[in-house]
Amino acid sequence: MIIIKGDHDLRNYYIAGNWKMHKNREEARELARELVKGLENCGHTLMIAPPFTALTEVAAIVKGTNILLGAQNVSLAEQGAHTGEISPIMLKDCGVDVVIIGHSERRILYGETDDMINKKIKLALSHDLDVVFCVGETLDQREGGEAEGVVTAQVKKGLNGIDESDLRGITLAYEPVWAIGTGKTATPEDADAIHGVIRSLLGGLYAASIGDSMVIQYGGSVKPDNVQSLMSMENIDGALVGGASLKAETFIPIAKFDS
Ligand code: 13P
Repeated sequence: MIIIKGDHDLRNYYIAGNWKMHKNREEARELARELVKGLENCGHTLMIAPPFTALTEVAAIVKGTNILLGAQNVSLAEQGAHTGEISPIMLKDCGVDVVIIGHSERRILYGETDDMINKKIKLALSHDLDVVFCVGETLDQREGGEAEGVVTAQVKKGLNGIDESDLRGITLAYEPVWAIGTGKTATPEDADAIHGVIRSLLGGLYAASIGDSMVIQYGGSVKPDNVQSLMSMENIDGALVGGASLKAETFIPIAKFDS
């Protein structure tokens, strides 16, 4: 299937799997091997983010392949007395290419604020780690008509003080909280509308061309049977996949949705 969209020539599709707190090392190795094999010929940008404990082992498997290695979080601090935290230096040492920052589970369950997220993004970039920066509204906020306002504020605060030249290392991910792990996907039109709001905002905060050139993923119950309709929208350039990224049989068809 050929997907025709506005400025998509500028933006390669980017499909990422966030394994969250799942998989021991053996299970992680097994899945990583299946993905390397099954996605060998996939031309999309691809990333998998295993738990910290499996990073080194998965790194050895994806090294030199078309799959980037992601981490699910990074500390605010470079190193030192921060019990339980993982620094960007440690992530680099494990072979990590990209880090997910601002996921709603970090914001809601672990109290991460926009200010912390902004600091983490800057620190990650300063260590040459690319970033998938997540934003998204809760169900109450959506029902209260606040979705655009909430997402706008999250993007502005998260990118505060970040230069245009550093945006090259950042991918946005719009993940409406009410669609995560619930089986409720945003309609392609609703998701596209928020992606469009983010593009206009980026075009206002930076050069107009930035709005067209940044990759914006959608996340929230992406499955093999809904990925095509989401990816066919003009402003949606990829997916950040949770549950369906835990099995090769569901992640591979998502990643190869147009082949
Ligand atoms: P689900 O695909 O399980 O809804 O999770 C989405 C997500 O949170 C990815 O970061």
